[in-house]
Amino acid sequence: MDRYCVFGNPIAHSKSPEIHAAYAAQTGQDMQYERRLAPVDGFAEAVRAFIAEGGKGANVTVPFKLEAARLAQALTIRARAAGAVNTLVFSDDGIIGDNTDGAGLVADIVNNAAVPISGKRVLLLGAGGAVRGVVLPILEHRPARLVIANRTVAKAEELVEQFAALGGEGVVSACSFADIDGQYDIVINGTAASLSAEVPPVSPSIFAPGCLALDMMYGASPTVFLQFAARHGAQLRDGLGMLVEQAAEAFQLWRGVQPATADVLKQLRDQL
Ligand code: ATR
Repeated sequence: MDRYCVFGNPIAHSKSPEIHAAYAAQTGQDMQYERRLAPVDGFAEAVRAFIAEGGKGANVTVPFKLEAARLAQALTIRARAAGAVNTLVFSDDGIIGDNTDGAGLVADIVNNAAVPISGKRVLLLGAGGAVRGVVLPILEHRPARLVIANRTVAKAEELVEQFAALGGEGVVSACSFADIDGQYDIVINGTAASLSAEVPPVSPSIFAPGCLALDMMYGASPTVFLQFAARHGAQLRDGLGMLVEQAAEAFQLWRGVQPATADVLKQLRDQL
């Protein structure tokens, strides 16, 4: 039976084994998917041990996504742009690194929320790893404009410089939270502020009528950012859909089959 796993530290909380088991059952794929706790200083060894045991691929989560990008012998274009890897394929030619996080976010917006990105004004809050990973997949959907706002503006400017050459020229720009100009159809919170129950200090005037507000975090109740967005008329989405969709992308990469995600998303939602 083909074996897969998710590496992280900590890893006990990971929902990936449950998600992939559901996809495997649904598509009739004969595979096994487990959690692997890798020591903080022993990620590469843990990957090599899994390959030696016959592992075919793996997901990678905190804190190993950057190290996974260095370990891979080849990177997909989107993994290179993200500077991070969440999916590894162990092929005869070596370790291939991909990043399905951004495609997962885009699939959740376009397919699950049924909000097209094409022609829309998109605002990304944050400029860390989570945001870097979603810029290219968003640009591929041709938004009218993509603004990256961050507490540390220089980090947002670095991203603009990087993505100008990857289809973002004239579309992507950077600013501070205080300098966000105009209204947006899609506002995505990719900052770590929700972890400490904080809201990035943005004006409520950023939400265009009918705006979609999405937080990459999720929990049993809406994040403080989503509560703020709800008070200003936005429709809400948390990061659970992104989680389920990034897993579907990885599953497709490994098995060549696209799983249906709606029932799995509902099952996870009911368990929160
Ligand atoms: P990740 O890989 O999860 O994106 P990261 O690279 O550490 O983590 O990035 C965290 C992001 O959240 C950054 O954009 C950070 O802003 P700075 O670049 O100015 O540090 C942002 N962030 C963290 N805490 C925040 C808060 N309380 N308010 C607003 N932004 C915050």
